[in-house]
Amino acid sequence: HEEFTKVKNIATIELGRYEIETWYFSPFPPECNDSLKLYFCEFCLNFMKRKEQLQRHMVDGKKNKVYGQNLCYLAKLFLDHKTLYYDVDLFLFYVLCECDDRGCHMVGYFSKEKHSEESFNLACILTLPPYQRKGYGKFLIAFSYELSKKEGKVGTPERPLSDLGLLSYRGYWTRVLLDILKKHKGNISIKELSDMTAIKAEDILATLQGLELIQYRKGQHVICADPKVLDRHLKAAGRGGLEVDVSKLIWTPYK
Ligand code: COA
Ligand code: NA
Repeated sequence: HEEFTKVKNIATIELGRYEIETWYFSPFPPECNDSLKLYFCEFCLNFMKRKEQLQRHMVDGKKNKVYGQNLCYLAKLFLDHKTLYYDVDLFLFYVLCECDDRGCHMVGYFSKEKHSEESFNLACILTLPPYQRKGYGKFLIAFSYELSKKEGKVGTPERPLSDLGLLSYRGYWTRVLLDILKKHKGNISIKELSDMTAIKAEDILATLQGLELIQYRKGQHVICADPKVLDRHLKAAGRGGLEVDVSKLIWTPYK
């Protein structure tokens, strides 16, 4: 009965919503023995010594390699011209679920490079076909820009975009930019719009040019924001979908 004589090593664990006091010794690997508390992933039961590790674990392709790879196989079934990255170590995966009394069910996801030279804030985005046209794509896109704002960086989706991807992005950019132009009084520059929205200047210019809201006067781009024209474009861009509640977004930029 050697186990009985051993001193309790881990005092508390965190598991899902609960912090739980432990009762007995358990033979964790030696590197855990200097921690009084362990953080468990309530889904795969991996345990970690720091809360930040757990938070990272929930989304990191390096920590959930098989899941990340399988997600890529699944996603490729609905993505035409994307290269499939088996090198999931380089990405974080944001998986969106519908939850009910049977658990959480994936409806879609996007992947994001941990470090992007080209300021990509989204690599692949997918809503599974049964869940499409419910606003989840818009939600994921809006979410990806909220992460960029937290990073204090501008972002843009990796190219090429599919037809459906482009439609969704154009709608998002139009709604976000024209909402600001409608409310704003006085001059505003592309740079200022970019700072406010984390949308890359090139995407802002292309969106406004596509809507014929940019004129070239005296060697400068000028945004023309006639309220009636803005309203017409906003109406055509459709509804915004599910809103991202930024106050609930707890996230540390990857370093
Ligand atoms: N026909 C016409 N317009 C469509 C469309 C379709 N089949 N699907 C989306 N759109 C447009 C609409 O404007 C729609 O807004 P609305 O429903 O208010 O009219 C808007 O895009 C986004 O709709 P939303 O419900 O938020 O998006 P979604 O959850 O259906 O997801 C994608 C959009 C792009 C993620 C989804 O179509 C998808 O996963 N496609 C396959 C993978 C892909 O191409 N990914 C992008 C690679 S870059
Ligand atoms: Na990809």
